[in-house]
Amino acid sequence: MEKNGFVDVSSILSGCYTGEKVRIRGWLDNMRSSGGIHFFLVRDGTGIIQCTMKKGKVDNEKFEEARKLTQESTLELTGTVQEDRRAPGGYEIRIEDMNIIHLAEEGYPIAKKYHGPEFLLDHRHLWIRSEKMQKILRVRAKFLEAAREWFQLNGYTEFHSPTLITAACEGGSTLFTVKYFNTEAYLSQSWQLYAEAAIASLGKIYTVAPSFRAEKSRTRRHLTEYWHLEAEAAWCDLECIMKVQEDLLAHVFNALSERVPRELESLGRPPEELARMMPPFERISYDEVVDILAKKKVKFNWGDDLGWTEEQKLTEEFDKPFFVTHFPTGVKAFYHKPDPARQSVTLSADLLAPEGYGEITGGGQRIDDLEELLRRIEEEGLNPKDYEWYIDLRRYGSVPHSGFGLGVERVIAWLCKLNHIRDAIAFPRLINRVYP
Ligand code: 4AD
Ligand code: MG
Repeated sequence: MEKNGFVDVSSILSGCYTGEKVRIRGWLDNMRSSGGIHFFLVRDGTGIIQCTMKKGKVDNEKFEEARKLTQESTLELTGTVQEDRRAPGGYEIRIEDMNIIHLAEEGYPIAKKYHGPEFLLDHRHLWIRSEKMQKILRVRAKFLEAAREWFQLNGYTEFHSPTLITAACEGGSTLFTVKYFNTEAYLSQSWQLYAEAAIASLGKIYTVAPSFRAEKSRTRRHLTEYWHLEAEAAWCDLECIMKVQEDLLAHVFNALSERVPRELESLGRPPEELARMMPPFERISYDEVVDILAKKKVKFNWGDDLGWTEEQKLTEEFDKPFFVTHFPTGVKAFYHKPDPARQSVTLSADLLAPEGYGEITGGGQRIDDLEELLRRIEEEGLNPKDYEWYIDLRRYGSVPHSGFGLGVERVIAWLCKLNHIRDAIAFPRLINRVYP
């Protein structure tokens, strides 16, 4: 694509300009010189391409000027595109003219050598330029693009809820408190309670927004601020909301395989693997989980919540995502609808990713009956005053309804085979990190 006479590296790499004279602009990722040739690797945000500058083919002054170029300097280059198998990406530009826009300072902190994770987190503002981060961030963007597409194609309306709230959705232990003038407010853990209000206005809705959890534990799958893809639908039961997740993920897997195959491949997730992980996803009940874990000699009693250790063990039994349904009432938040056929369990479902990743979505059917909601609020020791507006929803036009929340970074970490969730987001927020 051409912008003000400049072309994108990605379109050069897809063969659109072979033999043609082009102008590009970008960052100098790397440079070396050999004999009378400078080899540049130039990155423009769409791709990276080798450019060669030959003595005698450019003004001598420019050739000498190029010697002082430092890593991450920004440039405009004019040259002719050649197919070249030896070049990374298969194409190179033979430079005819160069214009230096910014000569970067010497000593770019991220050298082409090994750096420890803390160093890279401290220099995240620069590390996001790395090839690996570029790929992850692109997959992430395409994931959300495809997810939004699915919601739009299926009659869902995007809806936004407040971030500053007063009633906890997922329990008090992970709430962040913020000073709100002369009083206190919390940061939202989920849009859900507001979404339940909004379905009476819009029917089927979704959002993509940050959620906050004051997670006190250091784990490889918890952020304190994460992006939450959530959906809520009127007239939808547990089975219906599981089907929504399956259809959504089928669309997303197909889109990713088509739109970012090279990125996935080089992150260690060839698109064929996504094809293999297509829905339908198996459904196992919490009761069955208890049996499976007992067989695997994992200490786990009926009524315990699934933690990461148990989930990791459980994922050994599956090679694609699977639902765990009907969690005990005691381990789920107050709004989960107890199963009318068996009050000790809820109409809930978590989706777990294979390969040790575990929970990627949580959701299910909500309580729609006023008395039942009041009872559950009381049983959980919550103050009904805090939930007055939410309780009202069961007074005026209550409907059976369900929803779910998907942790964007959890899914990206799994799809991109990351060791730690922090790399699924540009600037991770962790128990010990809010900088940069
Ligand atoms: O299971 P959770 O707590 O469910 C809810 O918040 C529901 N109100 C969602 C809904 O029904 N609308 O969170 C949903 C998902 C989890 O399955 C997980 O993928 C992700 O959010 N998640 C986190 N991701 C990163 N860091 C954390 N600390 C997370 N906590 C939850
Ligand atoms: Mg959960």
